[in-house]
Amino acid sequence: MLKMAQINSNYKKLPGSYLFSTIGKKVREYQEKNPGARIIRLGIGDVTQPIAPEIITALHKAVDEMGNPETFKGYAPDLGYEFLRSVIAKKDFIERGCEISPDEIFVSDGAKCDCGNIQEIFSLDNRVAVCDPVYPVYVDSNVMAGRTGEYDPAKECFNDVIYMPCLKENGFTPELPSKVPDLIYLCFPNNPTGAVIHKAELQKWVDYANEHGSIILYDAAYEAYISEDDVPHSIYECNGAKGCAIEFRSFSKTAGFTGLRLGFTVIPKELKAGGEALWPLWARRHGTKYNGAPYIVQKAGEAVYSENGRKQVREQIAYYMQNAGIILDGLAAAGYEVSGGKNAPYIWLKTPDDMTSWQFFDYLLEKAGVVGTPGSGFGPHGEHYFRLTAFGNRENTIEAIERIKSL
Ligand code: MLT
Repeated sequence: MLKMAQINSNYKKLPGSYLFSTIGKKVREYQEKNPGARIIRLGIGDVTQPIAPEIITALHKAVDEMGNPETFKGYAPDLGYEFLRSVIAKKDFIERGCEISPDEIFVSDGAKCDCGNIQEIFSLDNRVAVCDPVYPVYVDSNVMAGRTGEYDPAKECFNDVIYMPCLKENGFTPELPSKVPDLIYLCFPNNPTGAVIHKAELQKWVDYANEHGSIILYDAAYEAYISEDDVPHSIYECNGAKGCAIEFRSFSKTAGFTGLRLGFTVIPKELKAGGEALWPLWARRHGTKYNGAPYIVQKAGEAVYSENGRKQVREQIAYYMQNAGIILDGLAAAGYEVSGGKNAPYIWLKTPDDMTSWQFFDYLLEKAGVVGTPGSGFGPHGEHYFRLTAFGNRENTIEAIERIKSL
């Protein structure tokens, strides 16, 4: 019999399309049917403010360097340019008391890719734990790899994944799981709920992971939005975290790089799984499958840490957090049950009148022309919840809330 090429059938286990693609399609269809409607998008967490002037200057300079034979750059070094890795180590870690060295930092084109790819360096036998609701990339990338078992449509869960419910009752932070996972995905400040974890609480996770030989995959993409003390910016602020945790960071929400693409992953040299160091495996993967973020973008990243760069990106973050305040206050005044939005650019709200998340999505789109993200798209415990982002511009944010209030 003729042997035919076969697909990776794990992909067929994925229910539906990627959440934000589904939303994009629904909104396009609505717009086609209602060409006059002025839709306000507070769905996907995409920034709206332009890149800060200091960063633009660095980009222009780097572009000019690329046109000059003396300063032209070809392939970037495997881990990223030293100028960027050292400033990251100093400003994001050493200055916060975390001993991370530049060569423990792997520069990439964003945290989404790294969060999705990291599972490759772990055995397929590993048992994965995720929060529920959760950023879909953690689960879907493990489904693609074949680590999750079958999908149970009744439970809306994969059989071999440990789901850790994040509910109003536990402040939307998970409890330590009773069944011990090998890989634990945590994201704080949290996408989608906007919840945070305090340092003592995160320390419990680090201790648990060290005790059981689990690895924590810590997504800190929203750390720049932390406004309260005692909320850790990095998992390495906890004792012993270098022995059990990988951390992901992004320039997307910190400095508006969603279109430029830049992020990094921290893998401490001492970190081991099953007695084997993880750093060489990720270095090998990086070397084999990746050719680095562009020089000009890494130069732009360096400028984020300059005095002016920092000041300007902080102003942008403050602007988005003022939006978050407008959304929180406006919705609370209109009688909605709201949380998040204090140390994160996401507001998590309970749908009114027991509507499902998707019913509320349609209702808001049709009656108010506002796009948000249905909580159930992030997992079964997100049902009856809804996420709005603070990343709109001021005018749209105010108008969206006025429209919701007048429903
Ligand atoms: C989101 O809306 O959850 C984020 O924009 C997704 C991402 O950062 O990839």
